[in-house]
Amino acid sequence: MSDPRYVAAIDQGTTSTRCIVFDSAGRVVAADRREHRQILPRPGWVEHDATEIWAKVQAVVAGALARAGLRPDRLAALGITNQRETVVLWDRATGRPVHNAVVWQDTRTAALCAELGGADGQDRFREATGLPLASYFSGPKAAWLLDHVPGLRRRAEHGEIAFGTLDSWLIWNLTGGPDGGVHVTDVSNASRTLLMNLTTLDWDPAILSVMDIPEAVLPRIASSAEVYGTATGRLAGVPVAAALGDQQAALFGQTCFDVGEAKNTYGTGSFLLLNTGSRLVASKSGLLTTVGYRLGTDRPVYCLEGSIAITGALVQWLRDQLGLIRSAAEIEALAASVPDNGGAYVVPAFSGLYAPYWRSDARGVITGLTGYVTRAHLARAVLEATSWQTREVVDAMHHDSGVPITSLRVDGGMTANSLLMQHQADVLGVPVTRPVVAETTSLGAAYAAGLATGVWDGLDALRAHWARDTEWAPRMDATTREREYRRWRKAVERSFGWID
Ligand code: G3P
Repeated sequence: MSDPRYVAAIDQGTTSTRCIVFDSAGRVVAADRREHRQILPRPGWVEHDATEIWAKVQAVVAGALARAGLRPDRLAALGITNQRETVVLWDRATGRPVHNAVVWQDTRTAALCAELGGADGQDRFREATGLPLASYFSGPKAAWLLDHVPGLRRRAEHGEIAFGTLDSWLIWNLTGGPDGGVHVTDVSNASRTLLMNLTTLDWDPAILSVMDIPEAVLPRIASSAEVYGTATGRLAGVPVAAALGDQQAALFGQTCFDVGEAKNTYGTGSFLLLNTGSRLVASKSGLLTTVGYRLGTDRPVYCLEGSIAITGALVQWLRDQLGLIRSAAEIEALAASVPDNGGAYVVPAFSGLYAPYWRSDARGVITGLTGYVTRAHLARAVLEATSWQTREVVDAMHHDSGVPITSLRVDGGMTANSLLMQHQADVLGVPVTRPVVAETTSLGAAYAAGLATGVWDGLDALRAHWARDTEWAPRMDATTREREYRRWRKAVERSFGWID
């Protein structure tokens, strides 16, 4: 019998980086995780140190391999998945970043986006890119850096600077860094930049010209599953064989390969993706049209996406900023100590509101307060904010696709909270299902890397690994559900218009 084959995935997320080693049955063999600093220089600004992130990547790779008791030559492939939209610019000669990475949540480009939209407004590039002009996306962040770091534009025009989302930054470093790293991004990450044309799957020259971004900085756009290069250093010889934005990786890990299949991942924010196959569905309801994945030379698979900026981050806020709970896990027992929200609603518009509103002038509000409301009611309202925001996105999906969602696959840290998952099923009126392997983001990157290197021979082999862990069936009556939803929507309206 030949040696079993393993695949490693690096998941470079907003607050932490993990490395997970999987066996050929898609089971977790070993994992390691490290957090990195959140640099908050001004209200609304969020930065990461890309050099620190690269060091954390190396540490978790070493940690996971040590725990698995494996030498790198037992790895058939390595896949990358990453926080999307966050931008790093680095010097090609030294490999050093020229500025901290500007993170997806950062709102510094809100005014630039309004200016770029001009008379056409937010939808100026929607047809070409599937995205509204919003501070969330990478292109305006890169434009901001080129305008604000002294001398950078001239160096960029001379081909001295490289642009990347985190996938590009990691592949460059993994495959040799300054001495000849590969400069590449995958099509799912590129589809989040506001710079890629969704039909040609290439950088859009007209948009580059409007945003004044020199083509010389851009990576090659590759598929999500192919060998981009071979790792050097600790992973010497391992093929780097996949890259996927983290939300698309979760879709892949949940094996949502068929049209109409959808998943929702509950992390810092929540991101609901619906597979629309080879069809580019233009949204009329505030959703994004984006690339799900592309395997080698196959046709790309497109998605509709509902992006919610703040869900898990609201629980962290309750813990770190308000001190109402000591650990995130505590919220479930506190919320369960009361039967309802006592009339309170929390709208966490910390970075404005994303889908389906795209309102950069929104800010967080708490409504419905009376003297009756306790911290337990607030804890409940915080959890309910996640399920109501998801309901709004699901309604938008239904409106755009004409297909009602009949069940929802879920993953991510907050799915450990049964009270929340029950409320989610209640407000959607459909069952919510969590798989046995909850690490679907890493699993998706491992699957794509394993497909590119022959560990698995096709999608059916991967589907066979998916198994249900828990299902929550809806219990709330329709009258209560719709009354609560009306109140939530009133609270959302109160969040608009706080920024002039
Ligand atoms: O678009 C942002 C998303 O990719 C962030 O995901 O899980 O790192 O918070 P996460």
